[in-house]
Amino acid sequence: MSKESSLYPELARTIAPADGKLGVLIPGLGAVATTLIAGVHLMNKGLGKPYGSLTQLQRVRLGKRTNPRFVPIKELVPLADPTALVFGGWDIFPEDAYQTACNAGVLPAEMLAQVRRELESIKPWPGVFEQDYVRNLHGTHIKSAPTKMHLAEALMRDIEAFMGSHGLRRAVMIWCGSTEVYTEAGPVHATLEAFEKGLKENAKEISPSMIYAYAAIASGIPFANGAPNLAVDIPALTELANKHRVPVAGKDFKTGQTMMKTIIAPGLKARMLGLAGWFSTNILGNRDGEVLADPGSFRSKEVTKGSVLDAILQSDLYPELYEKCYHKIRIEYYPPRGDAKEGWDNIDIFGWLGLPMQIKINFLCRDSILAAPIVLDLVLFLDLAKRAGLSGIQEWLSFYFKSPMSRPDLRPEHDLFIQHLKLTNTLRILVGEEVLDHSGLDYYESGLERGRNS
Ligand SMILES: NC(=O)c1ccc[n+]([C@@H]2O[C@H](COP(=O)([O-])OP(=O)(O)OC[C@H]3O[C@@H](n4cnc5c(N)ncnc54)[C@H](O)[C@@H]3O)[C@@H](O)[C@H]2O)c1
Repeated sequence: MSKESSLYPELARTIAPADGKLGVLIPGLGAVATTLIAGVHLMNKGLGKPYGSLTQLQRVRLGKRTNPRFVPIKELVPLADPTALVFGGWDIFPEDAYQTACNAGVLPAEMLAQVRRELESIKPWPGVFEQDYVRNLHGTHIKSAPTKMHLAEALMRDIEAFMGSHGLRRAVMIWCGSTEVYTEAGPVHATLEAFEKGLKENAKEISPSMIYAYAAIASGIPFANGAPNLAVDIPALTELANKHRVPVAGKDFKTGQTMMKTIIAPGLKARMLGLAGWFSTNILGNRDGEVLADPGSFRSKEVTKGSVLDAILQSDLYPELYEKCYHKIRIEYYPPRGDAKEGWDNIDIFGWLGLPMQIKINFLCRDSILAAPIVLDLVLFLDLAKRAGLSGIQEWLSFYFKSPMSRPDLRPEHDLFIQHLKLTNTLRILVGEEVLDHSGLDYYESGLERGRNS
């Protein structure tokens, strides 16, 4: 591969090979996690297809449009193969991954039967839990220790034992645990020093997901957060990530309704159509829905879901079109639906001369079916990032999140298409290929030989 990128040669990397097995450490072995694990084993046996996964299916264009090469991502960059993944995790209930997958009811029993042995072998380690952070669950499989620092150390011992017993040299941790109640970062989260003092003094502002993130990063393991609670999205832990040169990403997997929002809103804005309001409501009946029935946990979700429209529409630039947009989000716990969520969106738009129109969306989705490929991609990309020597916030993975982490002075990007270009261009840059800007004027105005890679 050429190391002479015409645009960012200084950012091209020498990437260490993905030798050996890769550990996948999951706090929260629930519906999403078990759907991922079952799916990977089914794929590895040739019994399932990884639809929805960029790392497994997508090709990116390299070279000019007159002579393009469409290279699979997994050939462009050295990714771990799904057959190299070894799973382990924590939960606050002791059921093994097979029992949990059966209870979650996402995958049909016939599919689960084909990977029963593999799932049964994954028995969760006792979790780090605090009732105040997830009020609707009453866990029974929980670590106890005098301080939060001792809990972090217990997690690190779990990690070490897991890696030792499987002969692993690399791992990634991804939070698939329940949504914790809404909190904002405060003084104890501001610096690593304050945070470590808080761990030792049992500061109540330090949530379990932060303790897992601390344990991962301090062990040199990349961390991603699939839920809306802060977890790694605090200055203290990004400081720790930079110190240990560990990549981190978050937060809240971008799956059903928000994925649709970040597809449609950029289109409306691109066409300068106005928005009077966007009402989104969902019914879902899985354990995630039960947790989100608590107003504290729902508030975390509401904030990550809500930030999406504000950021895409830029009402400060287009007050006439978007300043008055009324954005309302509801999630209703409705047990008969299980994981088969149904989302409705009513979008009130206006066009030429201010005349109103409506768009209605009725998305009958399966939450965990949309989330599992995201988890797989994040695991493989974070491992790649680590081997490429990247560290701290991985903004190029914002494609996968409802509320992407970014450097505090940068506006996070929510538009799915810009996020996608950011991701694929980052991969091109890492291997020294030219980025694509899709402008194309050079093909017409300046002659192909001098044309850039648009
Ligand atoms: N499409 C999606 O499914 C989707 C999208 C975005 C975000 N999420 C988020 O991903 C997370 C997982 O979703 P799910 O549907 O698998 O939920 P789930 O309820 O099936 O699984 C969560 C698991 O986490 C466990 N848990 C809770 N607190 C824990 C702790 N402190 N330590 C260890 N385990 C703990 C619970 O016992 C449960 O088994 C949720 O936070 C959810 O909001 C899911």
